[in-house]
Amino acid sequence: MLAQPPITEILTDNYRFLQQHVYAQAGIVIENDKHYLFESRLTPIVRQLGLGSINDLCALLRATREPDVGRQVVEAMTTNETYFFRDPAHYEVIRTRLLPRLREERRDTKKLRFWSAASSTGQEAYSLAMLLIEEGMSDWNIQILGTDYSSPIVERARSGAYQQIEVNRGLPAALLVKYFRRAGVHWQLSDKVRSMVRFETIDLRKSMRALGPFDLVFCRNVLIYFDGGTKQNIFREIHGTLFRGAWLLLGGAETAFGAEEWFDREAVGNSTVYIAR
Ligand SMILES: C[S@@+](CC[C@H](N)C(=O)[O-])C[C@H]1O[C@@H](n2cnc3c(N)ncnc32)[C@H](O)[C@@H]1O
Repeated sequence: MLAQPPITEILTDNYRFLQQHVYAQAGIVIENDKHYLFESRLTPIVRQLGLGSINDLCALLRATREPDVGRQVVEAMTTNETYFFRDPAHYEVIRTRLLPRLREERRDTKKLRFWSAASSTGQEAYSLAMLLIEEGMSDWNIQILGTDYSSPIVERARSGAYQQIEVNRGLPAALLVKYFRRAGVHWQLSDKVRSMVRFETIDLRKSMRALGPFDLVFCRNVLIYFDGGTKQNIFREIHGTLFRGAWLLLGGAETAFGAEEWFDREAVGNSTVYIAR
C-alpha cells in the first residue's frame, strides 16, 4: 500500500486563494471555517498529481494557472448530494396541480419543456420523466433538460447508471422494477426514460435565456451555495426562461429573497411555488 502523505495545514494565504478561485469560477461561497472541506475534497487531487499537500496544489495553480486542474478543484468543491423524488410534495403538486393545467393548455401541441437546473447526477430530472410516463403522457412531446456545472457529474447523469445505495434512496420499488435493469453492480435506467432527458454542462451564472421557454424549472439545493447578488442574477435569468405563469421550485431550505420582482410566491398543496410574472 502507498504511504499517504500527512495532511499539512492549509496556509492562510492559500485558503483565501482557494476561496477566491472557487467563487470566481462557480460563484460558490466557502466560509472561513471549512478547512476540513478543502482537505477532504482536494486531497485526492493532491495525490493524483503526486503533490505533497494542498499548499503545493495552490502553488501549481498560482504558477501555471492550469485550467484543467483549476476546473477539477472547483468540481471537487461542488456538493452533489441528491436522490430520487427528493421533496416528494413537489412531485405531488406537479402531478395534481401543474399537469392537469398543462394538459388542458397544451392539448393541441402536446409539447412540454422542463428544466432541472443544477441536476447533479440526474435523479431529479429522471424522477420527473418517470412521473410523466406514469401519468400517461408518453405520447406527448416532452423535453427535460438537466444542467450542472460539473462535467464528470453530467457524464454520470447521462449514463443513467446508479449504485444500489442510490436506487435505495427515494425511488419506489415498483418504479425500480419497471424502469431499471441490473447491469453488474449498477442499476441501468431504461432508454425510454433516458431519451426524455438531455444533460448539458452549464454554469448557472451565465446567460440562460436561450435555453427556454420552460413550463417548470427545478432550482433546488444549489442557491444555498451562492451570495445574494449571484442569487438575484440567477432568479432574473431563470425568469427569462419561463413562460408566464410557469413554475419555479426551490429547495426546502431556500427562499426566493430578491426574486419578488419576477415571481409571485404561492402555497400550492403542501409546497411553496414561485410563479413567473
Ligand atoms: C446539492 S446538488 C442539488 C441537486 C438537485 N437539484 C437536488 O436538489 O437534489 C447541487 C448541484 O449544484 C451544482 N452547482 C454548483 N454551482 C453551480 C453553478 N455555478 N452552476 C451550475 N451548477 C452548479 C453542483 O455541481 C451540484 O451538482
